[in-house]
Amino acid sequence: MGIGADKKWLFTLFSAAFLSLSLLLLLSVSSFISPKPFPSIINHGPHHPPSFSYYISGGRGDKDRILRLLLAVYHPRNRYLLHLGKEADDSERVRLASAVRAIPTIRSFGNVDVLGKADPVTYMGSTNLAAILRGAAVLLKMDGGWDWFICLSAVDYPLITQDDLSHAFSFLKRDTNFIDHTGDLGWKEKQRIQPIIVDPGLYLARRVQIFYATEVRATPDSFKIFTGSPWVILSRGFLEYCVLGWDNLPRTLLMYFNNVMLSQESYFQSVACNSQEFKNSTVNSDLRFMMWDNPPKMEPLFLNSSDYEQMINSGAAFARRFEMGDHVLDMIDEKILQRGRHRVVPGAWCTGRSSWLTDPCSQWGNVNVLKPGPQAKKLEDAVSNLMDDLKSQVNQCK
Ligand SMILES: *[C@@H]1O[C@H](CO)[C@@H](O)[C@H](O)[C@H]1NC(C)=O
Ligand SMILES: *[C@@H]1O[C@H](CO)[C@@H](O)[C@H](O)[C@H]1NC(C)=O
Repeated sequence: MGIGADKKWLFTLFSAAFLSLSLLLLLSVSSFISPKPFPSIINHGPHHPPSFSYYISGGRGDKDRILRLLLAVYHPRNRYLLHLGKEADDSERVRLASAVRAIPTIRSFGNVDVLGKADPVTYMGSTNLAAILRGAAVLLKMDGGWDWFICLSAVDYPLITQDDLSHAFSFLKRDTNFIDHTGDLGWKEKQRIQPIIVDPGLYLARRVQIFYATEVRATPDSFKIFTGSPWVILSRGFLEYCVLGWDNLPRTLLMYFNNVMLSQESYFQSVACNSQEFKNSTVNSDLRFMMWDNPPKMEPLFLNSSDYEQMINSGAAFARRFEMGDHVLDMIDEKILQRGRHRVVPGAWCTGRSSWLTDPCSQWGNVNVLKPGPQAKKLEDAVSNLMDDLKSQVNQCK
């Protein structure tokens, strides 16, 4: 039994009308919510606020934290490269890329990429350093505008807005590097530098741990080794020096550090401090807030809401480590970043109305202006003290 011919006709008419109505509604809704097309010209160079390239890396299961971190450090003038290490599935990588693409503002500015062909990252091995250098090379090639390279991991979070950061850095010479370092190796000389290790991640397809050679080797005497925090902020000029390698020092050190444990804690430190050209512009700080156990373990403690005051008064730009979804991240979002759930951190560029329904950054004006917030002053003071240290050279490459 079917519907009669006339009823069938009526049914078709009604469904067509209903369909076109809902299509119309859908279209008008989407034209209402999607941001206006790219009205703002992005200016780079010495007479404009500095901009940053971010390399954010994580491992299996880190897709959501990387996305949250990206939103918390987002600015249209910056460039972002996201890396999920080789042990993460391709499907997670694809889901990260679609989650990024699903954010209309980011899609309009097109300044975020996910590395499709992932690199292995072996615990304590040199593949970590190779991955960072590759990320830096991709960022150098894709975007000629940024001034500083910032290396973050999925367990990090900012303590400042991007307007704060750009404002504080606008007082600096753009060749300044932030690399925490010391030439006093202490126990690390015997335990970290002299053992020879091999990272199988460089030549084996499956995941394995580093292994140790039975021999140890002498501490180098043709250059001096410096070690420190792997979390660096590097000037564009210094990274070009490392990646392009017209001088042989960065390449020689890279070949040497290939067989040193935790090479990302010593490579940039040693290149900067052994180079006449770059040692005077290298500030001895990583601008991060971390808390360590006593005695310290391999990784810093997880930070929580008990550490909030100390953290935000530290003058640091970033903090680590955080457990996924910890309440203290919501506190930072609310009090410092003024960032809504699933939204990018607002800045002077956002001109939309802010409400629970509308994202202020779904509309924008001039993206080259800044509006530093309350945290900017703390960062500015911390950076200015560090610049005094740099001038006096008491704390540099010693
Ligand atoms: C770096 O600083 C030292 C000590 O102040 C100075 O002798 C040297 O000429 C400086 N190097 C450069 C390249 O400016
Ligand atoms: C934060 O972590 C410390 C240990 O690192 C713990 O003693 C403290 O109770 C935690 N605070 C909260 C609010 O969870």
